[in-house]
Amino acid sequence: MTSVAVEFRGISKRFTLRHHRARSFQDYVINAFRPSEPTEDFWALRDVTFQVPRGCAFGIVGENGSGKSTALKLIAGILRPTAGDLRVHGKLAALLELGAGFHPDLTGRENIFLNASILGIPSREVNNQLDAIVAFAELERFVDTPLKHYSSGMIVRLGFAIAIHADPEILITDEVLSVGDESFQRKCITWIDGYLRSGRTVILVSHSLDLVRAVCERAVWLDRGVARAIGTSLEITDAYLAHAEEMDRGRHADGAAISFGADGRGRRWGTREIEITRVELLDATGIATPFFQTGGPLTVRTHYRAPARVPKPLFGVAVHYGDHVHLNGPNTGTGRLPIESVEGSGFVDYVVPSLPLLSGLYHLSAAVYDERGVHAFDHHDRAYSFHVQSSRVGEHTGLVWFNGEWRHSPEVMR
Ligand SMILES: Nc1ncnc2c1ncn2[C@@H]1O[C@H](COP(=O)(O)OP(=O)(O)OP(=O)(O)O)[C@@H](O)[C@H]1O
Ligand SMILES: [Mg+2]
Repeated sequence: MTSVAVEFRGISKRFTLRHHRARSFQDYVINAFRPSEPTEDFWALRDVTFQVPRGCAFGIVGENGSGKSTALKLIAGILRPTAGDLRVHGKLAALLELGAGFHPDLTGRENIFLNASILGIPSREVNNQLDAIVAFAELERFVDTPLKHYSSGMIVRLGFAIAIHADPEILITDEVLSVGDESFQRKCITWIDGYLRSGRTVILVSHSLDLVRAVCERAVWLDRGVARAIGTSLEITDAYLAHAEEMDRGRHADGAAISFGADGRGRRWGTREIEITRVELLDATGIATPFFQTGGPLTVRTHYRAPARVPKPLFGVAVHYGDHVHLNGPNTGTGRLPIESVEGSGFVDYVVPSLPLLSGLYHLSAAVYDERGVHAFDHHDRAYSFHVQSSRVGEHTGLVWFNGEWRHSPEVMR
């Protein structure tokens, strides 16, 4: 048995884009008699080489359109490479597009049989596994409901449950884990952990670098169809983030602030006697950026506007990881910066000289309250986010950087 599960050797994939689409039946007939239709070649992958070792969790990261899904479809045999040599050693189960292999009018139960037959599982076996599949997907109450009434999270749960009960040696998933809620994601990660320990292989495409870091040992970064880097998932996600940071600096060169709920997150409440008009995350040079380094500086700048005088306001920020981990919540009261009153506009800075957070995506809240911290003038709850990279400190595990020091004292032998 080979120690490699999947092997890309100089793989290229060309798509042919047709510029004249038949818009009507007449067009179609006319086109059929045309000697040649104008076409354009598009290379979705170009000379890509990498190996996925058996028993490894392998991530594929890259921007939209970089060829990640194309790579998975090649592995799954849905597409054929235009050039190169692709080898897949082992039985494979694929979770590609949301709802692929399902029929909307069939119930969950009927879809389990349909999907299993596509995966090549005999219906006798499905009968034995049905309860386990439904239980893993946590869909007991909905198993006889047509799939068209399922939420996307429910469809993903069902797809994942079927795929893993097909007992594959290689599991490939395209972004689907991110569709499920946090508790299901955690359950999948726990399952994948056990699955990997039994020597099997996972290939995961995700835009969530946190997920890639948490699950994968190794990864490839695809950039417009080319393998830009291959290495440990930490090296690759850090390199990819650094690149995104560079691109972002170009975009944010005017020092623009991130706007409220820019990434679709966050809630806002308050009576607005003082309004938070803008929140900026600034680096050492005072430039707004969503990218920071462990041990480096970070300043949160909260811009405000108060149409009339408001006495003794309290400004605060909070940092969260995921939905439930509240890391910190300093305010001008606890930080001993009494503000007598505000009227008109200005800004308040919270300066962190050395950020004690490790690699990850963090969410930021900014708020202004009355003197007692009870009445909200304006609260932007987890409406902003920022990335932290820890490559420079060389420590990656966990969330917090203690910046501790190791000492060794061997006992003197007599
Ligand atoms: N069947 C197809 N015909 C023509 N072009 C295609 C086809 N499938 C994909 N492409 C093109 O190939 C490129 C790579 O697409 P792919 O879906 O692999 O990207 P991706 O990395 O998965 O992106 P995303 O992050 O948005 O999912 C894109 O430019 C896409 O438009
Ligand atoms: Mg894709």
